Amino acid sequence: ETRPIPRDKGVDNTLALMTEGYLFIPNRTRQLKTDVFQTRLLGQTAVCIAGEEAARVFYDESKFRRRGAVPKRVQKTLMGEKAIQTMDDASHKHRKQLFMSLMTPERLRLLNIYVTEEWRSAVERWSTMEEVLFFKEVEELMMRVACRWAGVPLRENEVEMRSRDMGALIDSFGAAGPRHWKGRTARKQSEDWVEKIVKAVRKGKLQAPNGTALQAMAWYKQPNEKKMTTHMAAIEVINILRPIVAIGRYITFGAIALHEHPETREKLAANRGDYSQWFVQEVRRYYPFGPFTGARVRENFVWQGYHFRKGTLVLLDIYGTNHHPELWVQPEEFRPERFRDWKESPFSFIPQGGGEYDLGHRCAGEWVTIEAMKTSLEFLVRKMEYDVPDQDVSYSMARMPTLPKSRFVIRNVRPVR
Ligand code: HEM
Repeated sequence: ETRPIPRDKGVDNTLALMTEGYLFIPNRTRQLKTDVFQTRLLGQTAVCIAGEEAARVFYDESKFRRRGAVPKRVQKTLMGEKAIQTMDDASHKHRKQLFMSLMTPERLRLLNIYVTEEWRSAVERWSTMEEVLFFKEVEELMMRVACRWAGVPLRENEVEMRSRDMGALIDSFGAAGPRHWKGRTARKQSEDWVEKIVKAVRKGKLQAPNGTALQAMAWYKQPNEKKMTTHMAAIEVINILRPIVAIGRYITFGAIALHEHPETREKLAANRGDYSQWFVQEVRRYYPFGPFTGARVRENFVWQGYHFRKGTLVLLDIYGTNHHPELWVQPEEFRPERFRDWKESPFSFIPQGGGEYDLGHRCAGEWVTIEAMKTSLEFLVRKMEYDVPDQDVSYSMARMPTLPKSRFVIRNVRPVR
């Protein structure tokens, strides 16, 4: 016994997606009173799903595959072509093991040391500047961290350009027009840069430090015993560098949260209970970053009475699930304490995807993200002082990815010793 999937109106809703952005799926699940509906995007049918049960079925690999799910325009900018995000089954698990092997406690400890060191020297630099464009500076800071951690050499005079390129890759994912083309140029430049470095490692002209992503990716052997092409290795190294730079967005949103909810500053500085964990989790839940993720139906199946047909594109609503009224009390309030007695679930809180790390496509860098955010935001409240001039820190829900309009400007930065 099956029932028809509720339909969105209109012949194609790509334009609505571009104007409603993060709210495109939530607006419709609320209006249609359903966690499943069907729409048309970029000339094809897409079934949008939201909520905990939706995430659970989405991460059931017997039901979904990634092949053919990521649009080419996103592969040519954000991710790189044919990278881990688009793989399935045994070859995906093997490649995922490569990423997960970099996430040991020892490597995370090292990451935190680099983050702290880079904040210290950044604050020295900023204290000589009249005004600091926080978002841009933090992206550069995270680029320095990313390259040190990944073993990728980065000259001082390249920092600005290379981090601008990483930023452009991230900034392009929901874009059409100039922002998309910037992303393409940035991808070409970044891949050329890292591929040269991978080649130098393979030729023995450059020693990649032990345990780093550069070393692991340069020498990794695929299930067929062959190394990746130097180009593919470069793409996967960038799949480490770029998302570490992306943490700069969450740190910027975290700084805005501290500004807009001043009572959280002292709580974070004191860190009673596990406040810094709650705070970071709430930043990742509350602020919009990844809007949704996609996969294709592997074989026909029925779920909650709805028929899912082989090959159909299915989009799991990330933003809407993190704000789902059945999962979160007053989801539109910023309230870190909600995480005090949060019943941990791999499917209700999915800012970086859901399910399992090793088996599925859940983000390999979730611990890196949490650690880098904690260390950074604790530094911000404990080790520096600054003024916040009047500015517009609101952000558009239509722009994907979005950012505070002012990019967060701070002044009169002083280190606290
Ligand atoms: C996958 C978000 C940081 C590495 C993903 C996915 C999302 C995501 C939504 C896809 C989940 C899916 O489709 O099921 C984020 C956000 C980050 C972040 C919002 C914060 C800035 C990182 C970091 C790293 C990283 C720091 C590495 C150091 C990866 C990799 C994948 C991935 C390798 C592909 C996993 C796979 O396909 O199996 N991330 N991520 N991410 N992320 Fe992250």
